Amino acid sequence: MKAAAVFPEKKFLAVVSDFPEPGIESPTAVKLRVINVGVCGTDREIASFQYEFPPPAGSPYLVIGHECLGEIVEVGAAVHDLQPGDLVIPTVRRPCDHADCVPCRAGRQDFCRTGDYRERGIKSRHGFMTEMVVDEERYMNPVPAAIRDIAVLVEPLTIAEKGLIQALQIQNRLPHGTGLHTAVVLGAGPVGLLGAMAIRRAGFTVTVYSRDREPNAAARIVKAIGGNYVSSQDRTVERLASDLGSIDLVYEATGVSQFAFDVLPALGPNGIFILTGVPGKHGPVPVDTDAIMRNLVLKNQCVLGTVNAGKDAFERAVGDLSSFHTAWPDAVRALITGRFPLDNFAEPIRHQTGIKNIIEIAA
Ligand code: BGC
Ligand code: ZN
Repeated sequence: MKAAAVFPEKKFLAVVSDFPEPGIESPTAVKLRVINVGVCGTDREIASFQYEFPPPAGSPYLVIGHECLGEIVEVGAAVHDLQPGDLVIPTVRRPCDHADCVPCRAGRQDFCRTGDYRERGIKSRHGFMTEMVVDEERYMNPVPAAIRDIAVLVEPLTIAEKGLIQALQIQNRLPHGTGLHTAVVLGAGPVGLLGAMAIRRAGFTVTVYSRDREPNAAARIVKAIGGNYVSSQDRTVERLASDLGSIDLVYEATGVSQFAFDVLPALGPNGIFILTGVPGKHGPVPVDTDAIMRNLVLKNQCVLGTVNAGKDAFERAVGDLSSFHTAWPDAVRALITGRFPLDNFAEPIRHQTGIKNIIEIAA
């Protein structure tokens, strides 16, 4: 089969044509025909060769791709809930092997304690940018055919869903009726815009705060979902905070740590600041730690880092994407700005253009 491979030793990207087709070897496994795979910042980071993303043991390359939509073509003898023709989104992370890692043993490898988890297309396991994939049924999340053309957005949406699930749990500490109302999303890439949609659906007012000035495609999407778009070149963080009154939730989706820490002082009382970006290595930056700590304590604030997602977040993402599709069909479709054949997978990785680029592997 063809597969999109990253060679860390030789530092190059190539389509390999002799990637072995997997077969069903376990009664609880399913086989998928890959339809679409999304390209994201993580793929770009892998392909920049600045950090180590190990291929599976013994392989000179890693097949990348972790945002996958596939169609079931075959199921093992003990699979009862899925059948050929069903559309599914596989989860990304696979558990570590340590008997005492409670989260992994409980199927919550997104909270793995050892760091020895694997991630398909990222860490020690081949990914989905190929023609056929075999994996266990328990890692599959069914999606309705009605959202087939945008279902590849489920995985990046799960990041926001996991963040929101936790934010709502944390807010249970407050007296009933003290809701979260005002949200700011940092960044207008796919994770930010999908997050803005999920946060909007959850009933917040949403302001997307991002660098680019209007007019731009992301700002149009934000407006279409009933949000506000503000360029950080036109309004300071202080102005933004005073315009909004009190910021209850910040959802960070830029990976730019200095920007995040510049916005942190604007968080309101009892507020939650969710960090999802993974910054690259830059030099140290001075921050006013006294001011930050005073606010965190005196305003009961919470800063929460979150990575990957569990089954609950995948379920919510599938449900939410269906409702976005109904409420804002044009805005969700506008998130996908580029479609590339597998042979050209390196193009959107080398040159980021538009919002979300996807690789179309099968129709
Ligand atoms: C993926 C996550 C993954 C993370 C870190 C992200 O792009 O969406 O599933 O855990 O990268 O590897
Ligand atoms: Zn991703």
